Amino acid sequence: MRVLVVGGGGREHALCAAIARSPLLKRLYAAPGNAGIAALADCVDIAADDVPTLLRFAERESIDLTIVGPEAPLVLGLADAFAAAERPLFGPSRLAARLEGSKTFAKELCRKHRIPTATFRVFSSADSALRHLETLETYPVVVKADGLAAGKGVLIARDRAAAEQAVRAVMVERSFGEAGARAIIEEHLEGSEASVLAVVDGRTIALLEPARDHKAAFDSDRGPNTGGMGAVSPARAVTRGVLSQVESQILVPVVHALARAGCPFRGFLYAGLMLTPGGPKVLEFNVRLGDPEAQAILPRLRSDFLALLDLAAHGRLEESESISWDERAACCVVLASGGYPGAYKKGFPIEGLEDAAALSDVSVFHSGTALSDGRLVTAGGRVLGVTALGAGVEAACRRAYEAVGKIRFQDAHYRTDIGRAEHEGALQ
Ligand code: AMP
Ligand code: GLY
Repeated sequence: MRVLVVGGGGREHALCAAIARSPLLKRLYAAPGNAGIAALADCVDIAADDVPTLLRFAERESIDLTIVGPEAPLVLGLADAFAAAERPLFGPSRLAARLEGSKTFAKELCRKHRIPTATFRVFSSADSALRHLETLETYPVVVKADGLAAGKGVLIARDRAAAEQAVRAVMVERSFGEAGARAIIEEHLEGSEASVLAVVDGRTIALLEPARDHKAAFDSDRGPNTGGMGAVSPARAVTRGVLSQVESQILVPVVHALARAGCPFRGFLYAGLMLTPGGPKVLEFNVRLGDPEAQAILPRLRSDFLALLDLAAHGRLEESESISWDERAACCVVLASGGYPGAYKKGFPIEGLEDAAALSDVSVFHSGTALSDGRLVTAGGRVLGVTALGAGVEAACRRAYEAVGKIRFQDAHYRTDIGRAEHEGALQ
């Protein structure tokens, strides 16, 4: 098969690595790809959200399957453009991608179908949101911009003053742009977080192994939220029982609801969950693989991923064999540029990658890297994801940190406690 992967981050590097293991693969392209992906795929200089050029490329190169990494092109209608041209693509339509593109859409779907989530109200003016805060007695509350905000549009307000400030930031100052035209104010949930992801073909759901992301920038979950500073898989709190609850109470109703609404969901469905004493509740849906969850989940995959996604893209997932997994655990540690998620400098040479990658059971995924005069340099906030497999989460994390210790670039920042809560039993 001739395959195109859309995107150019660590998630897409992990996707390319999983697809490259398939005996079905003849030729792999990535648009735009990155310096790491270039070792596995032909990188073509097309932006991930350039819908018409991606379609022209897929037509010209007779691509058999296009697999989409990030959400932006999906929300823009990449899948619809490919469907109209009858060019196979794995990823949801624009209407189904509202599950991530509009938090209001996702929350209202949950309410209508009794899918467990934090109680909430939607506001389309700052005045009405501020009036609502006057009626609230318990804090914290969570203020969310409705639209896409690169994972940054969620503000947890410890008291009323902070909540007012959050509403103003989202709706008046428009700190997240048009994403803040509407805002949601919702109940603050307590518990431990986990990510459950699935491959969906419109009807049938194939669960992937659960993962746990670490979103805060600094150790002990301190500092601002980032796209994700590391992940482990499996997530201990997601027992078989919790997983089947997530499937029956969350994933199945969502997939049925979207099919009944005439916009069946075909793609990666990601449920960000809070595991509360009252059961798993939805924090958010994403319509793609998580980053860095993909870098922790996909290296554990033993099945032919390309065969699975090809069946799913054609609505034939029920014909696939059940997915087989490496029983070992995986830990991915993200190396970021100092300053991320705020301002940071780029262009620093990266050393020691070969030594890290030479360790057994270690994979180094590139996120923000580039080649400059033949040298690998930093080129983004999250620079690398270093994944290791091990007999358990503790062993996997130990090996991942051993590899991280071999990599150097100026101002590198990484958390030193990825996975620790998992193996020390403190699940918060
Ligand atoms: P989201 O992008 O909606 O997943 O939110 C980003 C992060 O904010 C989540 O990973 C949680 O840590 C936190 N968060 C979001 N919603 C809530 C909530 N209702 N209660 C507690 N924490 C939340
Ligand atoms: N790691 C969280 C996300 O990809 O949204």
